[in-house]
Amino acid sequence: MTENTTQGRREADRVRIFDTTLRDGEQSPGISLNKAEKLEIANQLARLGVDIIEAGFPITSPGDFEAVQAIAREVHGPVICGLSRTSFQDIDAAWKAIKDSERPRIHTFIATSDIHIERKLQTTRDDVKGQARAAVAHAKQYTDDVEFSPEDGSRSDVEFMAEVIQIALDEGATTINVPDTVGYTMPHEYGAMFEELYRLVPDLRNVVVSVHCHNDLGLAVANSFAGLQAGCRQVECAVNGIGERAGNASLEEIVMLLHTRESSVALWTGANTREIARTSRLVSRLTGYNVQPNKAIVGRNAFAHEAGIHQDGVLKERTTYEIMDATTIGLETNSIVLGKHSGRHALRKALEELGFEVEGPALNTAFRRFKDLADKKKAITALDLEAIVSDEMRQSPESFVLESFDIEASSNRAPLAHVAVRMPGGEVAEGNFTGDGPVDAFFSAINAATGHEARLKEYHVSAVTGGRDALGEVTVLLELNGFLASGQGVSTDILEASGRAYLRALSNALSESAAAEAEHHLRRAGAVETPTP
Ligand code: KIV
Ligand code: ZN
Repeated sequence: MTENTTQGRREADRVRIFDTTLRDGEQSPGISLNKAEKLEIANQLARLGVDIIEAGFPITSPGDFEAVQAIAREVHGPVICGLSRTSFQDIDAAWKAIKDSERPRIHTFIATSDIHIERKLQTTRDDVKGQARAAVAHAKQYTDDVEFSPEDGSRSDVEFMAEVIQIALDEGATTINVPDTVGYTMPHEYGAMFEELYRLVPDLRNVVVSVHCHNDLGLAVANSFAGLQAGCRQVECAVNGIGERAGNASLEEIVMLLHTRESSVALWTGANTREIARTSRLVSRLTGYNVQPNKAIVGRNAFAHEAGIHQDGVLKERTTYEIMDATTIGLETNSIVLGKHSGRHALRKALEELGFEVEGPALNTAFRRFKDLADKKKAITALDLEAIVSDEMRQSPESFVLESFDIEASSNRAPLAHVAVRMPGGEVAEGNFTGDGPVDAFFSAINAATGHEARLKEYHVSAVTGGRDALGEVTVLLELNGFLASGQGVSTDILEASGRAYLRALSNALSESAAAEAEHHLRRAGAVETPTP
C-alpha cells in the first residue's frame, strides 16, 4: 500500500479535473468572495493544475459577471467556464464574461427529472428537449467547447435523459455532465446509470462524459469514483468539498484517491498534488469555512498519529501507518524561510517561491507587515508569509479598514472599546461602545462607527503556526439585513485580527445585499427569470 507514480500513462485514462469551487462552492451559505479573492483562488487553481475552472454564473449578478470576466482575462492555463441556464440571455451573459479567455467554455443545463420539469420548471418533457437543443446550438455559435448537463440526472427517467443527451450531442456538445444534484444516488446505481447511458447513446463514446456529485449522504467522492470506473473522464469537484447544502465531491480527496491508487485503478490526473495543502488553506481562509480536523487529506489530523503504537511504527517505517507522504500534498511548507534581519529582496524571493507576485506598493506593505511580525516572532515560516500576504491582498478599496482601536478594560467595570474605521469613501468614522467582553465591545463599537447593526453569528480563533508567538487567524460570520457573510483577519494581536475579520465580513455582507438588490431590479426588468440553482 504505497504511492504510485507509474510512467507510461494512457491519455484515454486521464481524468479531467473540473473545479467548481467558485461556482457551486460559492453557493454555500455565508460565502461571499469579492473579485480579488476569486482571482486569487483561480490563480491558485491554475497552479494546482486543474483542467477547467468553473468561474461563476455570470447572469446572476454584476459582481459575478465581473469576477468571471477578470478570471477569463487574467488566469492562464485551464479552460475557463461560465454557467448558464438554457435561456439565450443566460448564454449571452456567460459568453460575454468568458470570451477573452484563451480557452472559453459555456456550460448550459436544464433539468430532466419529472419532479423538476413538472414542479420547478412547470413545463413538459417536449419543451425541455426544445430548450436543450436551442441552448446548445446557441452556445455553439460562440465557442466549440460546450458542456451540457441534464440537471437532477440521477433521478431522471434514463430513457428520456438519453434522448435529451442525444439532442445535445447532435447540436455539438463536447462534454456531457450527468449530475447527482441532490446527493441521492449510491455508487452502484450511479455507475449502472452511466453504463445504461453509454448503451442508449453510443455517441457518448466520442465526447467527454462527466460526474458531478453532491454529498448529502456522504457519498459524493464514492459516487464520482463509480462514474469514473464506468467510463467518465471528467470529475466536477470543489476544494474542501464546499458547495450547495452538504457540498460537492472534494477535489483533494478525488485527486489523492486516483494518485495513491493509480496502480489499481489505472486512472490519473494532471494535478500538481504538491499544491493541494496550500489551495485548501487559501479556500478555507477566504471562504471562512474551516476544515474539520479529521477531514481526509487536508484535515489537520490527516497525517497526525496519536496512538503510541502508531507513532512507534511510523518512526520505524513511515508506511506502516501512512498510505501517503505529507510532502506529496505540499505539507512541508512550514519550514523557516526568513529571519529578523532579512531584507526586501529576500522577502520578494520567498514570496515568489510561494507563488505570490508582489511588487511596488504591495511589496512595501508586505515588507512592513513582515517587519512588524519579525519584531514579535523569531522565525518567519512560509505559512506566516502566506497568511500575512493573503491578508493584505484581501484589502479592497471598497471595504472598511481598521485605522486604530483601543479597549479599556478593568476588573470592576465593563470593557469600553474606541475604534476608528476608514470608510469606503475615504473618511474616518469613530465609534465607542461597552460590551460583555472586549470582543463584544469592539464589534459593537465597529457597528456604531459604520452605522450598521450587524449581528455576530460565529467567531473562531486559530493559530497559523504553533508556539506562543504564533500569528492568530480569526474568522467571523455575521448577519446583516438577512445576509450571512464571513471575513478573516490575521495578526499576532487577536483583537486586531478580530477587528479586521469583522470589518471584512461587514463589507462582504454589504456587497451581498447590493448584489441581491441588483438582481431584484434585473428580475423586475425581466432580465433574470428564475432563481439560480
Ligand atoms: O448540482 C447540479 O445539478 C449543478 C448543475 C448546474 C450542474 O450544479
Ligand atoms: Zn451542483
